[in-house]
Amino acid sequence: MTKQERYDAVFAQVEALCRGEEDWVALWANAAAVLHAAFGWWWTGFYRVVGEELVLGPFQGPVACIRIPFGRGVCGTAWKEDRTVVVPDVEQFPGHIACSSASRSEIVVPLRREGRVVAVLDIDSRDLAAFDDVDAACLERIAALLA
Ligand code: SME
Repeated sequence: MTKQERYDAVFAQVEALCRGEEDWVALWANAAAVLHAAFGWWWTGFYRVVGEELVLGPFQGPVACIRIPFGRGVCGTAWKEDRTVVVPDVEQFPGHIACSSASRSEIVVPLRREGRVVAVLDIDSRDLAAFDDVDAACLERIAALLA
């Protein structure tokens, strides 16, 4: 199965889970579980915009930092710049927030409602350069479904 095919299957599963349900905690919790299991990443989860910070939301993986200020780390950068951020080597990203020393690469995708970032989907891998344009495009599609 190619990565694209795996994402297509995940998208269909997340879409089915979302049908008829509007509780975002439940939806994001299940989406994190589906994504995490499908790809075997180190950490998969959401941070919500609450005032001037991101606050930890539903996730799968080890314990993570709870609050990230606007513009800080990879997550805060994705929020501030309103774009997907792909980091092939977290040690090369100025200001990266290391919740776990095992994380080597990362992707952060904004979730938008009415054009405003309301949360980010954050994924960490233990492998260097684990994320590419396919991940970015497919995760943006999933983020749009979940926002
Ligand atoms: N590495 C992130 C912090 C969150 S953890 O990866 C779960 C960052 O730099 O924003």
